[in-house]
Amino acid sequence: MSIFRFPFFKNKSSKKHAIENKDMINDAYVLPEHVAIIMDGNGRWAKKRGLPRFAGHKEGMDNVKNIVRVANKHHIKVLTLYAFSTENWKRPKSEVEYLLKLPIEFIHTYLPELIKENVQIRTIGAFDMLPEHTKKAVQSAKDKTRENDGLILNIALNYGSRYEIIQAIQLIAKDIENDQLDVEELDESVFSNYLFTSELKDPDLIIRTSGEKRLSNFLLWQAAYSEFWFTEVYWPDFNEAVFEQALVDYQNRKRRFGGV
Ligand code: IPE
Ligand code: IPE
Ligand code: MG
Repeated sequence: MSIFRFPFFKNKSSKKHAIENKDMINDAYVLPEHVAIIMDGNGRWAKKRGLPRFAGHKEGMDNVKNIVRVANKHHIKVLTLYAFSTENWKRPKSEVEYLLKLPIEFIHTYLPELIKENVQIRTIGAFDMLPEHTKKAVQSAKDKTRENDGLILNIALNYGSRYEIIQAIQLIAKDIENDQLDVEELDESVFSNYLFTSELKDPDLIIRTSGEKRLSNFLLWQAAYSEFWFTEVYWPDFNEAVFEQALVDYQNRKRRFGGV
């Protein structure tokens, strides 16, 4: 297991976060490889400032770039960000339209930098149901970063875990029907291969901002043994210091996966 010491542990003022407890040394300093974030609280962030909700979404979009930089700095391999859920279609049409235009703006603004930073863009979710302009921009960003082998920025866009599981079952049923798969072969690993996340390891750490403590249909299967971290901070205010608090907290956890 790779051992990594954050530079900020050396800072005296953050010593309360430092792992001084001797019996934690073995597992200490291990970083999550896959961090998944439920980026929540854009609307409340805006409301607090007397701004319309979309201003919060815009600020939240810009913050994605900051957090990608921090993830890169700490050599996190996969950063999955929940950007739009299958339930978010319930919102007013104008908000849905704005939210689904944001990926286009994000790519337009930040793709050159992301390419320079060797980031690979991927998505999970029901991609085909997105508006044409969103699909076009996102697909082009995926294509342009396909060969990058740095951080995987995995955007959950029109993602819902129950939808994901149902579509997996449909694909499995078809494969069984067409003799591509034997029922006896179906185990957890085979099932995982039918999910949107098939090429990714399960998230080690799931963070949710804005004080809500629920999954909201995010990675239900994949979260079986994830560590959870919640903060009251709204997504647009989630910065390097808060992210690092989450990482340090993770480093102090003992993951047992059912063992002793
Ligand atoms: C998160 O912020 C963005 C999306 C869910 C798309 P919200 O829009 O949910 O913000 P709150 O929860 O209303 O504050
Ligand atoms: C979850 O946030 C979805 C995203 C962050 C994209 P919501 O704001 O939609 O979740 P609920 O409705 O509060 O559970
Ligand atoms: Mg919300």
